[in-house]
Amino acid sequence: MSIKRIAINTGGGDAPGLNAVIRAVVLASLNRGWECVGIRDGYNGLLLPEDYPAGGLVSLDRPAVRGITHLGGTILGTTNRGNPLRYPTRGVDGQLYEKDRTGELAAKFKAHGLDALVAIGGDGSLAIAYALCQKGVRIVGVPKTIDNDLDQTVITFGFDTAVNFVTDCIDRLHATAEAHRRIMIVEVMGRYAGWIALNAGVAATADAILIPEIPYDIHKVAEKVQERARNGRNFSMIVVAEGARPVGGDYSVKGKEIGRLDRLGGVGEKVGVALETLTGKEARCVVLGHLQRGGTPTTFDRLLSLRFGAAAVRALGEGQSGIMVALDPPTVNYVPLNEVAGRMKTVPLDCDTILTARDLGISFGDE
Ligand code: F6P
Repeated sequence: MSIKRIAINTGGGDAPGLNAVIRAVVLASLNRGWECVGIRDGYNGLLLPEDYPAGGLVSLDRPAVRGITHLGGTILGTTNRGNPLRYPTRGVDGQLYEKDRTGELAAKFKAHGLDALVAIGGDGSLAIAYALCQKGVRIVGVPKTIDNDLDQTVITFGFDTAVNFVTDCIDRLHATAEAHRRIMIVEVMGRYAGWIALNAGVAATADAILIPEIPYDIHKVAEKVQERARNGRNFSMIVVAEGARPVGGDYSVKGKEIGRLDRLGGVGEKVGVALETLTGKEARCVVLGHLQRGGTPTTFDRLLSLRFGAAAVRALGEGQSGIMVALDPPTVNYVPLNEVAGRMKTVPLDCDTILTARDLGISFGDE
């Protein structure tokens, strides 16, 4: 079936580069004579039409994507609520249940004359894309997340910008840690993967990096702080991934909601309190939070996003569906969505960056 009209959507947490992907998809599609529309706020523009008096679909022509490559956020809006696979729905008993609404969504694609979808998102969005594809929607996924936890691509767009930002923040906090002879703790995002903490922590020469993949023993972290003090280094910089947890302990969860992933956070503060007790030194915790998601994409992320967007359109033009574009340096290739959906890429314990950190004397709180 030839393509006349395609849709684009952005789902999950925003990441720098989303607008660059949208621009590339729109321009590459218009150049093929296809019409483009954007779905507002993930799939809400189709699932909740009553919430959009001006329409849940927006027309994407050339003027709509002018001057957006360098902008953070997404011109389409996004949401990490209302996953169509686990849609919170009130039952007759008044309780909230999770309901699969992907069948209904696939029917809406047909009803709106949408021949294909470029779904830009992380693990949750790509799992939805896979389900829609199985229900007959022609789909190409584009891997987005600052967390870099998607399988089958060397990197996701948004990650480089987040790591650059975090590295800069650690550099700044280093000065204060040294001036006040304090322990500075920086809590960073990443969900259940330690990519942001590891990469920024090594680049910014942290003294300890705590990541979900290596449960920590707080006594070992305290030993590292004391060892530094014995060597005349009266301050320490500790990077803690939000998904870090102590040996035998659990993740620090800030919020639970039906149809959503748990909201992580708070482990940095716990580490700080424990280190103050164990070392007698003053500790401060800075949670970088959503600052890591906004801002201008780095050159690397802009280029990757543009390459991903254009490659997604080329794939649709070649008649492909049920795939995700992926970085496989030096090229962008295609991988089946079923090899991505439901898989999480965590930091391999024997990867070169972990080995480098250990060689440099950075502690992971395990030895
Ligand atoms: O997946 C991106 C991410 O920023 C995670 O690193 C973080 O755990 C989560 O989203 C935060 O989500 P929210 O925007 O709902 O607070």
